[in-house]
Amino acid sequence: MSSSSSSSSSSSLIRTGISLDRELLKRFDKVVRQKGYGSRSEAIRDLVRDHFVEDDIASNKAVVATITLIYDHHQHNLAEQLIQAQHDYKGQVLATTHVHLDHHNCLEVIILKGRSADARKFADNLLSFKGVKHGKLVLTNTSDIHPDDISGV
Ligand code: NI
Repeated sequence: MSSSSSSSSSSSLIRTGISLDRELLKRFDKVVRQKGYGSRSEAIRDLVRDHFVEDDIASNKAVVATITLIYDHHQHNLAEQLIQAQHDYKGQVLATTHVHLDHHNCLEVIILKGRSADARKFADNLLSFKGVKHGKLVLTNTSDIHPDDISGV
């Protein structure tokens, strides 16, 4: 693979060429179209970033995350348990958003940062509480070279 600096742009974009099997490229182009990418380059950039984010998550680097919970607020002590767990979390809870969905059900989105393993443990703990009906953890970061620089992690 060879690469050269692009002289037409003032940014740090580097132009590079890759070789792909014809059938693989055909399949990739189909996905590029289906997902609405403007170019193969944009789709490849996203794939590379996703790879680095996954790699950082797997190696317990700094992440930001959201935990989405649906729970029954009539469940005895649940609201207190959820609050206590957030205070005990090893990383940092940045914000929570609460929506009263109906008479019984609440939707809560917790936004946090910390080490990926701590974030997982925290989410698993919340999801295990009686009265929490469903929930999902989404881990991400900026896919920068130094994810540990996420402030405060
Ligand atoms: Ni509520």
